[in-house]
Amino acid sequence: MTKYLIEGGHPLHGTIEISGAKNAAVPIIPAALLVDGVCRIENVPQISDVTLILQILRELGADVRTINRTTVEIDCSHIRNRQVPYELARKIRASYYLVGALLGRFGWAEVPLPGGCNLGGRPIDQHIKGFVAMGAEVDVRNGLIYAQVPGRGCLAGGQVYLDIVSVGATMNIMLAAVLAEGKTELSGAATEPEIMDLVCVLQKMGAIISVDVDRTFRIEGVKELQGYTHTSLTDRIEAASWASAALATHGDIFVKGATQPEMMTFLNVFRKIGGEFDITDKGIRFWHPGGDLKPVAIETDVHPGFMTDWQQPLVVALTQANGLSIVHETVYENRFGFTKPLVEMGATIQLYRECLGSLPCRFRQRNYKHSAVIFGPTPLTGRDIDVPDLRGGFSHLIAALAAKGPSNVQGISLIDRGYADFRGKLEALGADFD
Ligand code: EPU
Repeated sequence: MTKYLIEGGHPLHGTIEISGAKNAAVPIIPAALLVDGVCRIENVPQISDVTLILQILRELGADVRTINRTTVEIDCSHIRNRQVPYELARKIRASYYLVGALLGRFGWAEVPLPGGCNLGGRPIDQHIKGFVAMGAEVDVRNGLIYAQVPGRGCLAGGQVYLDIVSVGATMNIMLAAVLAEGKTELSGAATEPEIMDLVCVLQKMGAIISVDVDRTFRIEGVKELQGYTHTSLTDRIEAASWASAALATHGDIFVKGATQPEMMTFLNVFRKIGGEFDITDKGIRFWHPGGDLKPVAIETDVHPGFMTDWQQPLVVALTQANGLSIVHETVYENRFGFTKPLVEMGATIQLYRECLGSLPCRFRQRNYKHSAVIFGPTPLTGRDIDVPDLRGGFSHLIAALAAKGPSNVQGISLIDRGYADFRGKLEALGADFD
């Protein structure tokens, strides 16, 4: 099913339960490669990115058992192949974590360059810089990353400073460093909750990792690790996506599993716009209280800033706020492509190359349209939409649900990459779609 016909204009009402966090599961699963022994992960999201990474592990020789809908056990005691299958790895971004895990465990990795959403160049130079600082030789050619530790077979602890705060590079370097000989100092690192979830897993496995207030991780290499049992944290991107859907459709959604600490920054913005929420032990209820929504100025940033992955669904809600909202995207140079269909649906959104904000931004004076001004409220009208990427695609779904009239949304399978059972959830919320 790759196409939805949505009849919008109806508020979403009801309860849905969010899944485990995609961006925590996709590094935690490859961490199983670091040990001989069983690793058990609970609250695994049923999304296609996870299916693919589990399939890759199977192809490498891992024994992957599905215990129930959201629990898997992985045993990498009998890895027989370290060449990651090209077709599978190219479909996802997270395949890059296989480099860190294989290199750390076996001193050798051959992994296709990762795929993922087109949000800009998305280089992996910082990952490579880290591996090289630990003694690896890394060569990228013909679409493949070849990494190996010459001679000794084991990485050595090193000093790594990330020039760009990168979620992926932080976790990849960590995966490589836990079994390295000696200490690794990783500074300029990211500290997203998903990263701390991986740190929890690695600590359970026997690793020694500390983090300083200046975002420096210190990893003391150990000789051996053991299997882990871990319940993954819930998906704060999914939670914010449903919260934005509640606001955009004048709805009321209880998001079971949403947690306050990981969402604090989002909740502040949600409140400033005029959205209401109620936090309980089981989740967070988000609703539109009626009346006008207020415009807001936000800048995306690394944690604890406003997540880049939150901005796309929220922009749809901002088309309904009364006045000018500004979004300055400082993480990706090209994350506003999704606004074009919104404009075609009736939104007034102007993109700018200038930095419309005060955060230090790598894209200043460069030719990227990375700031958006949204003028609202503008009624949205349904239309045909081709889903461009994961978060942009979910945002288009929200727009179609908020719009008057029918929308034909194509390429829905892209949304399966990151939102578990969103069809069932849309049904539970009373959405009118086929
Ligand atoms: N960057 C570099 N060099 C590097 C690494 C990153 O220039 O070596 C740049 C990127 O091009 C980007 C910025 O640094 O402009 C941040 O990239 P980062 O490495 O933090 O992102 P990522 O690891 O590729 C993960 C998530 C993304 C999420 C970002 C930011 C996974 C699999 N992906 O990507 O999630 O947006 O962190 O939080 O964990 C999504 O879920 O839809 C998604 C895109």
